[in-house]
Amino acid sequence: MSHNLLKGKRGIIFGALNEKSIAWKVAEKAVEEGAIITLTNTPVAVRMGDVNILGEKLGAEIIPADATNVEDLEMVFTKSMEILGGKIDFVLHSIGMSPNVRKKRTYDDLDYDMLNKTLDISAISFHKMIQAAKKLNAISEYGSILALSYVAAQRTFYGYNDMADAKSLLESIARSFGYIYGRESHVRINTISQSPTMTTAGEGVKGMDKLFDFANRMSPLGNASADECADYCIVMFSDLTKKVTMQNLYHDGGFSSMGMSLRAMAAYEKGLEEYMDENGKIIYG
Ligand SMILES: NC(=O)c1ccc[n+]([C@@H]2O[C@H](COP(=O)([O-])OP(=O)(O)OC[C@H]3O[C@@H](n4cnc5c(N)ncnc54)[C@H](O)[C@@H]3O)[C@@H](O)[C@H]2O)c1
Repeated sequence: MSHNLLKGKRGIIFGALNEKSIAWKVAEKAVEEGAIITLTNTPVAVRMGDVNILGEKLGAEIIPADATNVEDLEMVFTKSMEILGGKIDFVLHSIGMSPNVRKKRTYDDLDYDMLNKTLDISAISFHKMIQAAKKLNAISEYGSILALSYVAAQRTFYGYNDMADAKSLLESIARSFGYIYGRESHVRINTISQSPTMTTAGEGVKGMDKLFDFANRMSPLGNASADECADYCIVMFSDLTKKVTMQNLYHDGGFSSMGMSLRAMAAYEKGLEEYMDENGKIIYG
């Protein structure tokens, strides 16, 4: 059901790869709520993924671009303003990738070229995006810029690896740039810290199925789905949240405020045999 929350607004959605992508759901809901949008992803993702299907369905133009490349980002903003007919009201950064995770390099054996890539793709691209937009004066007054984060920015999670460092940096960029862009043009910058979600990026996290189950058991409201995340993004793009900026907003069913729940404890009681070596010693990950 549409509430016309984004009627007349223009947006850019980075990171829709396939139907599972959080960005995919956000794009669908943004259009449902009355916005016109452009979609962007890397040239290879545009070729290999399903974003063309989404573009056709929503009548949205697709602009291939690498979010680590400043010229590409300038082109995305310039083209989007041309296509959509004016300044941009909202931007979603829904981008994450760690070559160290992909290559199964553990946190105490990181490849530093790969770490640089993780940080560039998953965090610095957010800075590059905002800086490019600001230099082009591409965002309208009280425009809203959002990125997606994870609670591993604050707490340590087994297997999340160098993505935790990337998310900490991402959230810091939202605060640092939020001050400058807010002061100068009333542009809002926030991050939404989302529950574990079964997407292509999510499924790449070590032990994701167990993490997903644990988070679900710990959260009084259960894990938040990609669709529910999209709802929150729409509210953050709308005029209903004009004075919210520089925040990391948890969208996790209550997980981040929990210590232990009965449901999680019940699963723990089932035993740790699976995690013991032949001498009965627990293998700590
Ligand atoms: N899935 C989860 O459990 C979860 C939880 C919290 C936060 N997030 C965050 O949500 C965001 C979206 O991820 P998702 O779960 O929807 O997975 P996804 O795999 O569908 O999306 C990740 C996107 O990043 C894009 N990307 C990678 N490198 C890029 C580059 N150089 N330039 C432009 N785009 C690039 C990919 O093509 C892909 O579309 C990420 O920031 C992720 O860390 C995911």
